[in-house]
Amino acid sequence: MSVIVRRMAEADRDSAFRIFLDSFGGGPDRLAAMAELPVTDRWVAEDAGRILGVMRELRVGQSFGGCFVPSAWVAAVGVGLTDRSHGVSRALMSGWLRELHDAGVPLSTLYMSTMAAYRPVGYELAGTRVSYQVPLEHLPRAQPLTVEAWDEGDLAEVGDCYRRVSLERNGMMDRPEWWWEPRVFGGVSADAFLYRYRVIEDGRTTGYVVYTLKPDDRPDVPIHWAPEPECFALVARELVWETPSAARSLLGFLAAQRTIGTDLYWNGPANDPLIAFLPERHPQVQGSFTWMMRLVHVSEALRLRGYPAGLDAEVQMRVADPVVPGNDGAVTLRVRDGRAEVEPASDADLHVTVNGLAALYSGWMSPYDATRAGLLTGATEEELATLARMFQGTSPYLNEMF
Ligand SMILES: CC(C)(COP(=O)(O)OP(=O)(O)OC[C@H]1O[C@@H](n2cnc3c(N)ncnc32)[C@H](O)[C@@H]1OP(=O)(O)O)[C@@H](O)C(=O)NCCC(=O)NCCS
Repeated sequence: MSVIVRRMAEADRDSAFRIFLDSFGGGPDRLAAMAELPVTDRWVAEDAGRILGVMRELRVGQSFGGCFVPSAWVAAVGVGLTDRSHGVSRALMSGWLRELHDAGVPLSTLYMSTMAAYRPVGYELAGTRVSYQVPLEHLPRAQPLTVEAWDEGDLAEVGDCYRRVSLERNGMMDRPEWWWEPRVFGGVSADAFLYRYRVIEDGRTTGYVVYTLKPDDRPDVPIHWAPEPECFALVARELVWETPSAARSLLGFLAAQRTIGTDLYWNGPANDPLIAFLPERHPQVQGSFTWMMRLVHVSEALRLRGYPAGLDAEVQMRVADPVVPGNDGAVTLRVRDGRAEVEPASDADLHVTVNGLAALYSGWMSPYDATRAGLLTGATEEELATLARMFQGTSPYLNEMF
């Protein structure tokens, strides 16, 4: 088999989308609906005119060290049923990554169905999205600020709030305006409402929530007019806040639904600071979606992120990248005034795999953990401490699924 990796063309539509449906589910109706989808953001693996696999890329930005860094998110890699376990996805990903590197794209991120397919092409675990659940009766009740409804007309102000919060947390998306309607507000069933509330401080939106109601059982509720208890849970699509008053007010507002409500569900980082407002009970962790990341262009990725203010430091490292030759080699990383300069170096004793560098870069792993995991070798104590200061950061998190 000699696999060619290229952008998807119109002529590939039927075979490529059929592979997509065979991989993720769907039948003739969905295939017909895909007739209108653009193909320009998809890539295929082809062998002698036959389509073997397909993937979709999404060009976005992700926050690292207080700067948004361009990233190519990978959605929906699929390989034809009879072509699996023959190295097709590895060839597709490798070819695509080399093209991206040549175009100077710094990062790539994906949610994986198996780590095994992505580690060999340079991705490593880099952040997570945790789903929490807490009974409404365990939320704080005070509402120091007025909570008011908002709608599409307020999106610029609400989006600014999201942007300020996302710049302070590694991994969060530089969310484009088009994302809100389909991805945050969409998919509400015909017989349900979408609820949007916010708080304003000094003329600025400092917190908001977007949620739906989900029917839920609560046998202790004495509703005599219904044959069965009819209660609901509050499922937050987003719960974003910038100040203590904003967090307290939104939680107090949600707590006021506890007569018939059951629980609040929300997504947050692994060490969600929202838990600091819960007076008694720790929320239950429902699960987590962990994502993987790769530095596609090592020097661009290191150059474009932010670093701690006041740090003046330098480290030399040899990056091992068996898939993208342009990344494979030694570099000097010099950090000053929150920014970095990256120069080629002759060699370095400190070795890091391109996978390990992704975990360090996002703040998912400390250099000490990366050393214990064998992803980083040959570093002196001083170099470890320097790397720890350079890549210090918040627990990496993404609310968006793709
Ligand atoms: C996951 C998928 C894309 C892999 O494609 P593939 O061409 O069969 O993968 P490759 O042959 O290139 O194998 C790459 C590595 O992935 C792993 N892998 C492949 N198929 C796997 C499977 N079904 N389950 C777990 N791991 C698998 C293997 O470890 C393999 O490495 P190895 O050959 O050294 O053991 C393919 O199975 C598929 O389309 N699955 C359904 C959709 C899906 O899960 N997409 C990924 C969403 S993130």
